Amino acid sequence: MGPLRVSLFSFLVCLHVPLSAALNRDPRYKPKVPNVDRDLLHKPKAPNADDYPFRNVSLSWDERVADLVGRLTLEEIQEQMGRGGAGENGGPAPAIKRLDIGPYQWNQECLRGDVGAQGNATAFPQALGLAAAFSPDLIFRVAEVTAVEVRGKHNDFVKQGIFTDHTGASCFSPVINIMRDSRWGRNQETYGEDPYLSGIYADRFIRGLQGNDTRYVRASGGCKHFDVHGGPDSIPVSRFSFNAEVSEADWRTTFLPAFRRCVEAGTYSLMCSYNRINGVPACANSELLTDVLRGEWNFTGYIVSDEGAIENIIYLHHYLNNTVDTVAACVNAGCNLELSGNLAKPVYFSLVDAVNAGKLTQAKVQEMVSPLFYTRMRLGEFDPPEMNPYSRLSSADVETDDHKALAVEAAMKSFVLLKNDGVLPLNHTAKYGTIAIVGPMADDASQLSGDYAPRPPPADVITPLAGLRSIASTVQYAAGCSETACTSYNSSDVIKAVTGTEITIVALGTGQSVEAEGHDRPDIELPGQQKQLLMDVINNTPEKVPIILLLFNAGPVNISFADQDPRVSAIMECFFPAQATGDALRHVLLNDVDGAVPAGRLPYTWPLLDTQMPPMVNYSMAGRTYRYFDGPPLYPFGYGLSYTTFRYTAMTHTAFVTAGEPLKGQVWVDNVGHYDADEVVQVYIRWRDIPLPEGTPKIQLAWFDRISMKAGQSNLQVSFEVEARSMAQWKNGGWFIEEGFMDLFVGGQQPHQKRAAPNDVITAEFKIVGSKYLGRY
Ligand SMILES: *[C@@H]1O[C@H](CO)[C@@H](O)[C@H](O)[C@H]1NC(C)=O
Ligand SMILES: *[C@@H]1O[C@H](CO)[C@@H](O)[C@H](O)[C@H]1NC(C)=O
Ligand SMILES: *[C@@H]1O[C@H](CO)[C@@H](O)[C@H](O)[C@H]1NC(C)=O
Ligand SMILES: *[C@@H]1O[C@H](CO)[C@@H](O)[C@H](O)[C@H]1NC(C)=O
Ligand SMILES: *[C@@H]1O[C@H](CO)[C@@H](O)[C@H](O)[C@H]1NC(C)=O
Ligand SMILES: *[C@@H]1O[C@H](CO)[C@@H](O)[C@H](O)[C@H]1NC(C)=O
Ligand SMILES: *[C@@H]1O[C@H](CO)[C@@H](O)[C@H](O)[C@H]1NC(C)=O
Ligand SMILES: *[C@@H]1O[C@H](CO)[C@@H](O)[C@H](O)[C@H]1NC(C)=O
Ligand SMILES: *[C@@H]1O[C@H](CO)[C@@H](O)[C@H](O)[C@H]1NC(C)=O
Repeated sequence: MGPLRVSLFSFLVCLHVPLSAALNRDPRYKPKVPNVDRDLLHKPKAPNADDYPFRNVSLSWDERVADLVGRLTLEEIQEQMGRGGAGENGGPAPAIKRLDIGPYQWNQECLRGDVGAQGNATAFPQALGLAAAFSPDLIFRVAEVTAVEVRGKHNDFVKQGIFTDHTGASCFSPVINIMRDSRWGRNQETYGEDPYLSGIYADRFIRGLQGNDTRYVRASGGCKHFDVHGGPDSIPVSRFSFNAEVSEADWRTTFLPAFRRCVEAGTYSLMCSYNRINGVPACANSELLTDVLRGEWNFTGYIVSDEGAIENIIYLHHYLNNTVDTVAACVNAGCNLELSGNLAKPVYFSLVDAVNAGKLTQAKVQEMVSPLFYTRMRLGEFDPPEMNPYSRLSSADVETDDHKALAVEAAMKSFVLLKNDGVLPLNHTAKYGTIAIVGPMADDASQLSGDYAPRPPPADVITPLAGLRSIASTVQYAAGCSETACTSYNSSDVIKAVTGTEITIVALGTGQSVEAEGHDRPDIELPGQQKQLLMDVINNTPEKVPIILLLFNAGPVNISFADQDPRVSAIMECFFPAQATGDALRHVLLNDVDGAVPAGRLPYTWPLLDTQMPPMVNYSMAGRTYRYFDGPPLYPFGYGLSYTTFRYTAMTHTAFVTAGEPLKGQVWVDNVGHYDADEVVQVYIRWRDIPLPEGTPKIQLAWFDRISMKAGQSNLQVSFEVEARSMAQWKNGGWFIEEGFMDLFVGGQQPHQKRAAPNDVITAEFKIVGSKYLGRY
């Protein structure tokens, strides 16, 4: 490598980090110049273009893809595989005019609504809140609506010749990394800490997004970040060069299962992550992308790199030191598409050189470009639009009344009631004279959505203050802090606001200015002087006036003192509820509409002590998540209160399960309280062979669903099924079901918790008869 090359590289290193970080931080990044391909809009089709076999709908998909790919030159393939990127240089994949093929934009985010494209979109609660709903049905419907809006806007963009970032129909969503550390900035994008819950949610999201048409896909899915990716983002080191050292057992039992479910659900794509796994960058990791993913799981879709992950292999991981070796390593390992950080010349632009140098074969390159065109074909790009039901969607299908109503429903379902001395629900027939709403999250619309937020029209975003105004004649408000970080705090404002009120509502939390992509937290303390704010409220509120604490955060915050303080009557975790925040809060606090009784459950373990959080960089699962946790948490995984009380009265189940067969059971549930309400039925299993093989959890969620019951309704029969795979343990390089007894727990929460909702958990056992090897996966 000559001196010119060296200086060019060091220039890129300096430039790269902030640039890539900036692009990742802000999914709303938009190039200044719209990338309008007017040429393609108005040019008549090439003669006989309709006659190419790849446009012939009578042929099989495989025949059509093979025909199309066979017509491409290596240079054309290089551009198709290199332009998956962000920024005006990064994409779109260019048109191939001689074949009348248009551009395609691969860079699209659909975490919980259409993210980042110009125009309106419905903003559903951040993913972690959706997970707290513990509702497969809800995530399915949110994904369906997301896909309708993404596809509708995409159809219009294509008609207008717009192919800029976030205009495509192939989603870099959902995020199914395991929330393994409370401090990670991206916990909010995940479905929490449990691989089973994350896997079920991945399945429902992918199916909801992609749709059920037998021929066409509505919007294609892409689970991320594959794999062993769960912090750090920034503390103590950068995610761009981090090496995750993981044991085979933790990898198989914690970091792979949700992705396998995503593949089983039919995802078109996965995204490989920034980190190295045991020394090998994920995007150049053939054990991950070929042996496990294609070999063991039979995945046939495409892998896209995280943004800048390919160039990071050279400049930040220093794993390889030139673009030819890097494109060869990544393509051979199984990464089909480079998402660069706005590079004019992506690393994959050395693909032809790599072939000429004998480091990549033409056959491999053709194989690797094929899933990209297969995906576009299934989206309908090469078929007459009349054949495709999804081509009828348009921007008119965005922010409809139904979609807005689903945003309210989803927000209500996401709230987790952590503490309640009986103050909630508030009396909805009474009109209060004066109430106070204080805290930095009370009226800051910019902090209620979290990262990767869709942008609704501003008038559709209802803050807590706006949503709660109508419940009292006078509302006394003070933010107290200049911003959510609360470095500058004015106690006299807060004390004044809470004087002479009937109820005081305190809205605290992190918001994306404190907890975000690229921003881990060093600890989980309330930001800045927020704790002082709450102390001031407590110390300046008369005994008879209830204090209700609302929390807007993803990873837990240290509120042990508020949990213990009897002056704090209620605590509700709200996550980042997005546009419907204020409306959902009013309904849930007052219980003034159907479905407003809280039933969300924590999708993670809320630690009590800082010593319960192992160092972020240590990827051992020991002591992490409810599956391996040591010591009582403040609130356990699966915990959440209701306004009513449920009783689990009886259960029947398969007592002897033939190894490899599922366990089937029924439980009878009563709503013995005074409110119509939802309940989250949870089934856990526990192995008895102590010591457990490495990686085997102490206890495992094995089924859940969210049900609705009328006040006083009794004997609702709920059927459940524990899959055979849930009973298997990873040992000796494979998954084995062993003969013996296992414990079975069915209720609205985990068994044997110090901190528990007031309903019982039914305990039983079953015997696995015989043993079975399920395979290596
Ligand atoms: C499309 O493929 C079918 C089946 O092979 C063939 O019969 C037909 O002629 C093809 N149509 C065109 C326009 O080439
Ligand atoms: C977004 O919605 C607002 C309010 O309904 C409307 O005024 C505006 O025109 C919409 N924007 C677009 C691009 O459709
Ligand atoms: C497909 O999904 C749509 C929208 O959810 C639904 O109305 C329809 O019944 C489904 N069709 C089938 C065959 O499942
Ligand atoms: C993958 O394909 C092989 C060969 O067709 C088959 O035996 C195996 O069961 C498949 N595995 C999965 C997980 O689908
Ligand atoms: C980088 O390049 C030098 C000189 O060509 C070579 O000796 C070295 O092994 C390379 N390092 C890596 C990690 O490929
Ligand atoms: C709710 O308020 C109404 C109107 O003030 C009152 O009549 C009713 O008794 C209250 N209900 C409860 C449960 O306090
Ligand atoms: C707090 O705000 C009040 C006005 O509400 C102002 O008079 C006072 O100077 C502020 N105090 C500080 C320390 O900024
Ligand atoms: C919360 O704060 C208390 C008091 O400072 C401390 O003892 C505890 O370790 C903290 N918990 C966490 C999880 O940081
Ligand atoms: C990581 O944590 C595990 C479990 O606590 C411990 O055994 C191991 O020594 C730690 N690794 C490092 C490098 O500190």
